[in-house]
Amino acid sequence: MALRNFFVGGNWKMNGNKESLEEASATLNTASLHDQTEVVCGAPSIYLDFARSSLDLRIGVAAQNCYKVAKGAFTGEISPAMIKDCGADWVILGHSERRHVFGESDELIGQKVAHALESDLSVIACIGEKLEEREAGTTEEVVYTQTQVIAENVKDWGKVVLAYEPVWAIGTGKTASPEQAQEVHEKLRAWLRANVSDDVADSVRIIYGGSVTAANCRELASQGDVDGFLVGGASLKPEFVDIINARA
Ligand code: PGA
Repeated sequence: MALRNFFVGGNWKMNGNKESLEEASATLNTASLHDQTEVVCGAPSIYLDFARSSLDLRIGVAAQNCYKVAKGAFTGEISPAMIKDCGADWVILGHSERRHVFGESDELIGQKVAHALESDLSVIACIGEKLEEREAGTTEEVVYTQTQVIAENVKDWGKVVLAYEPVWAIGTGKTASPEQAQEVHEKLRAWLRANVSDDVADSVRIIYGGSVTAANCRELASQGDVDGFLVGGASLKPEFVDIINARA
């Protein structure tokens, strides 16, 4: 099996101000972080520049969204070119809040993925089922459909991290059990093997998101197909360092 470096993303969402984000950045800058773990912080777009100048260069910066074209009359949107211009190399796309609060469709997310990758950004592509979908037994169908649309828009999987985030676990304090996470991650890897290639299945990081904390990260990280995390609430707390070091 190809070696997959652990990947931990922090998703700051619409939280913080310059003072608190500088403080959170200083905590990360001075912490001892496992050197085989890739760390990326997702900043609000207005703070991308600020996050890039506050965080040590060993920590990547991500935007939390972007639009599907480089420029134009799209009031309120930002483009991958602008994200790169601020020194950030990543973008989170398809987050459940984009899908379910802002009504983004699979099709739009796919177009964004394609344009971000063409613009040389790396992408944290998010998928995940809602509670009613899990209860109806359609988790696999939902995540395969979401992954399929992403896959149709990816040429270079080296620049993609897939984030499995069950919607019912995001911001709820209800983490998926290590077994539940492993089960879906394993199936997603099998899907990649069947529909993309062995190489991609072996090398793509599949990370888990949804109420990850310092208390539950080690057990989740010990699962064979859990290659890291996307962390919301805990990413602005000192415990984010423990989550980054979950495999250390
Ligand atoms: P949470 O958010 O860790 O606060 O549940 C995760 C996410 O939305 O990426």
